[in-house]
Amino acid sequence: MLARPLIRLALPADAAAIAALSRDHIETGLPWTWRPERIANAIRDPDTNVAVAGPPDALAGFGIMIYREEDAHLVLFAVHPSRRRQGIGSALLGWLEDVARTAGCRRIRVEARRDNVAGRNFYSEHGYHEQAIERNRYHAGVDGVRLEKWLRPQVPGTPDGA
Ligand SMILES: CC(C)(COP(=O)(O)OP(=O)(O)OC[C@H]1O[C@@H](n2cnc3c(N)ncnc32)[C@H](O)[C@@H]1OP(=O)(O)O)[C@@H](O)C(=O)NCCC(=O)NCCS
Repeated sequence: MLARPLIRLALPADAAAIAALSRDHIETGLPWTWRPERIANAIRDPDTNVAVAGPPDALAGFGIMIYREEDAHLVLFAVHPSRRRQGIGSALLGWLEDVARTAGCRRIRVEARRDNVAGRNFYSEHGYHEQAIERNRYHAGVDGVRLEKWLRPQVPGTPDGA
């Protein structure tokens, strides 16, 4: 059985490795927007958690979640290819979700590329439901899919509660 990976909050020293993971494994074929400075800003932002697994010189994975009132948004998430299917993504997601629950968030939103079978399966395994396909979400010809997970029951008659 694989040991549960240690998840920690990112330090400024992690920014370059996180940005490189995003460039190589999330933003592939797209303009690189999550550069080290933007990651460093997220690390400093009090409404954002950047969670990582592994040391700065051998980062196994990371996730960035923004907490906004009742909703949280998972904006960037990846595990290094050499470390996948070992439960690291699940541990990172669980850590970020626990914070969202503790903060009183009702729902987590996330987007993935439509052709990202691994990502869509991963989120589905963790209780995320696909809401809509967004044409050209990332670039011309690169569609996205919007997913969400409710952490608390929807209340009828309230916004988003139907
Ligand atoms: C999606 C991703 C984060 C999963 O990370 P991971 O550490 O491999 O995930 P886990 O090991 O915790 O997997 C948990 C479950 O998710 C599902 N899953 C994960 N990768 C999968 C794949 N390639 N194909 C099908 N299902 C997959 C499986 O059900 C898996 O459980 P199992 O291994 O017991 O079958 C990783 O593949 C990744 O970084 N992909 C590139 C970036 C990305 O897609 N980010 C998310 C969308 S922006």
